[in-house]
Amino acid sequence: MKTHVLLVDPLENLSVKKDTTLLLAATLQKLGHIVRLIFVKDFSYTNIGPSKLTTYSFVASFSKDVGYLESFSIDKKVDMELSKSIIFHFRVDPPFDTAYLRLLLILKGLKEKTGMRVINDPETLCSHNEKMIAYEFSKDLPSFVGSSQDNFNDFCKGLVRLGHDEMILKPLDLYQGIGVEKCTIEKASDLFLKKVAEFEGAIVAQPFIKEVVKGEKRAIYFAGEFIGAILKVPKKDDFLTNIAQGATFEACELTAKESFACQKITESLDIKKVPWVAFDLLGEIVQEANITCPGLLNEVSFAHGKNLAQEIVEILSE
Ligand SMILES: Nc1ncnc2c1ncn2[C@@H]1O[C@H](COP(=O)(O)OP(=O)(O)O)[C@@H](O)[C@H]1O
Ligand SMILES: [Mg+2]
Repeated sequence: MKTHVLLVDPLENLSVKKDTTLLLAATLQKLGHIVRLIFVKDFSYTNIGPSKLTTYSFVASFSKDVGYLESFSIDKKVDMELSKSIIFHFRVDPPFDTAYLRLLLILKGLKEKTGMRVINDPETLCSHNEKMIAYEFSKDLPSFVGSSQDNFNDFCKGLVRLGHDEMILKPLDLYQGIGVEKCTIEKASDLFLKKVAEFEGAIVAQPFIKEVVKGEKRAIYFAGEFIGAILKVPKKDDFLTNIAQGATFEACELTAKESFACQKITESLDIKKVPWVAFDLLGEIVQEANITCPGLLNEVSFAHGKNLAQEIVEILSE
């Protein structure tokens, strides 16, 4: 049996009872695997000598609400040498900034030095953006990424010709609905410049998709297999479907069009290198392919009455 090591944010930054990473760690341990956590502060690379890092063992208990934990706490400090027999899980939450890139580059060095398997592959994470993957895959949802006002104005003219009157402006590399704003296309120019200044460069522009009030789907895939999905529905009079912004959720299935798109993207990312992909789908179109630290496994498990981390562990053990 392999040892699993998970690189994680400090526990105090995580919502222990409903965190995807901790659910996976607790489930792996329950099923008999050796599991250790490494915190970002203890993460390092050296090109001389063995790759010995400080890791931690933990104790966890499951809630009677399927998919959630009751408790999670650190047990002991354990020195561990990274090697080929380890499966290493990169589970640090974005933002994808310079500090994040540094972690990925250290991890790439460790992977090449030790030959351990890393989920998801650091090089692929370095070279992909979760939103751009979706825009490059399909033209169904017009999307603009940049800071040029002339090009933005041309994009807006194209949207008006297509019959749109409202649009969304948002950061390319944030999360949880932070900085997402709706405006009329007519008045978008000023907001565009304000956002470019606020986010120090390229931002995303799209037409406002009215069906968002009915919800956005989250579909989790692992190694090309569909694990489960939920529909996230915004609060009344809101359009943000992020659960962190108060959206509710319920179990759902995917349409044939949705599952085709998700399958195609998982294949293009290479399921061996990037097995874990969590899609967001709006009006049957992929809006995001979350690969840096895919989440909402607790919610999808709860909605389906089944700890889906167990299915991921089974696939990992094959
Ligand atoms: N083009 C759009 N039309 C309607 N709603 C949108 C659009 N883009 C984003 N949203 C809403 O804003 C939320 C956050 O946007 P998203 O692109 O998913 O960024 P984040 O990475 O912050 O989750 C979405 O979940 C959705 O509710
Ligand atoms: Mg999103």
